[in-house]
Amino acid sequence: MKKLLIGSNLKMYKTIHETLTYLEALKALTADLSEDIRLFIIPSYTALDAASKMVMGSHIMLGSQNMCPHEVGQFTGEISPLMLKELNLDIVEIGHSERRHIYGETDIQENEKVISALEHGFIALLCIGETKLQKDCNVSTEALLTQLKVGLKDVPQKYSDRIWIAYEPVWAIGVNGVPADPEYVDMQHASCKKALSQLFPGSDIPVLFGGSVNPQNAKALISKPNIDGLFVGRAAWDAADFHALINDVIPVFKSK
Ligand code: PGA
Repeated sequence: MKKLLIGSNLKMYKTIHETLTYLEALKALTADLSEDIRLFIIPSYTALDAASKMVMGSHIMLGSQNMCPHEVGQFTGEISPLMLKELNLDIVEIGHSERRHIYGETDIQENEKVISALEHGFIALLCIGETKLQKDCNVSTEALLTQLKVGLKDVPQKYSDRIWIAYEPVWAIGVNGVPADPEYVDMQHASCKKALSQLFPGSDIPVLFGGSVNPQNAKALISKPNIDGLFVGRAAWDAADFHALINDVIPVFKSK
């Protein structure tokens, strides 16, 4: 049976103390979560060490919000895969919209990170998403497929079971985001999944959706055939709220 993937990127919001309080609550609330749910949290770098100890023995997988593709070197301010490995992380998030649009990261840089993360044994969670302009010009699918194909360029097939994709339309993310229509999302997921099955024949790479996911739209989104999981921002940053949202979507996902 397919696993539901559900998680949150905490962006630059929680201190170490706040992250631990959040994880402690989430760990308690999700203690009896069934094995077919993969729950993951992506805290700030500074909280990762303590967070990794906090989630030990729980269902919660941990990830980092970014990673330098190089192991060592003259890269001031960067964090290497070797440093992340020391923290026993499961996931490296790559190419979040804020990395691309605020910090100017390119598809080919994301590709270097994807390959490095996979070579170092992590799950590479590659984020893709079209801008409002691209959507308005009806080139959303082309934009997504470009990000996907360049982002996954030269990735060996043997790593396909450690690739996760998050489709997060830039116009749907954050406080100014506009929630996306589940039909529209499902259509874009279908195009991405088709491209993924051509890039990695026989694989079943999950495509999660993110961008203003909230208690009002989560069930409608997860009911769609091509949506394999949810990548939640603001609506997940309170442990009890996130737990309630998870409990809401589980039966919908299981009944697909
Ligand atoms: P949001 O963030 O749910 O707060 O819109 C989503 C994301 O950036 O992953």
